[in-house]
Amino acid sequence: MARKNIGAKPYIMPMPVLMLSAYEVESEKPCAMLAVWGGISNEKELTITVASERHTLNGILARQAFVVSMGTVETATECDYLGITKGDKVADKFEKSGFHTTKSEFVDAPLIDELPFAVECRVKSYDPETWRLVGEIVNVSLDESILGENGKVSFDKFHPLAFDWMNKIYLSLGEKVGNAYKDGLALRKLHI
Ligand SMILES: Cc1cc2nc3c(=O)[nH]c(=O)nc-3n(C[C@H](O)[C@H](O)[C@H](O)COP(=O)(O)O)c2cc1C
Repeated sequence: MARKNIGAKPYIMPMPVLMLSAYEVESEKPCAMLAVWGGISNEKELTITVASERHTLNGILARQAFVVSMGTVETATECDYLGITKGDKVADKFEKSGFHTTKSEFVDAPLIDELPFAVECRVKSYDPETWRLVGEIVNVSLDESILGENGKVSFDKFHPLAFDWMNKIYLSLGEKVGNAYKDGLALRKLHI
């Protein structure tokens, strides 16, 4: 393998495409932004890097709540729009995305109807210096349309977007290639 060092960059491959939704500070209007710098940080916790100037962050902090939905292949254009348009500059940004919302039963934030996999969070902390937003996972909301016969999310029905920061492109996922916690056992047996 001939390796190339490209320096300290914010790269892991792929990154998730996360849609953060909240209500505006002083109205029941939804707001939303795209984030890819985030993930699970504890059994009941998500950590997402949200720049302090983001309009959506105001709503998140005001109501101490937000929803993180997975971007989907079917909604890549809408998700990208919400990632390149600023709520401070475009007052009806969310409406223009074409998305619709339903209030979460668990937190004071909107679920996006068109995004079937959503994680409802209460704000645990936000640090304006590091930009780290930590959310306590209160509920995971799955649209039945993405569930398989075993009651779990089926990737035949659910098509999450992946993100490649290096090339700035969205991708879909491929085929199942293995079984976690099982396939590695073959190597263990080999060395007994
Ligand atoms: C592919 C992509 C990834 C992004 N990831 C992040 C991120 O992780 N954190 C962040 O603060 N902004 C991120 N952004 C930028 C915000 O989504 C963008 O600034 C958005 O317009 C903010 O909207 P708002 O100001 O209405 O909240 C990303 C944008 C794109 C297109």
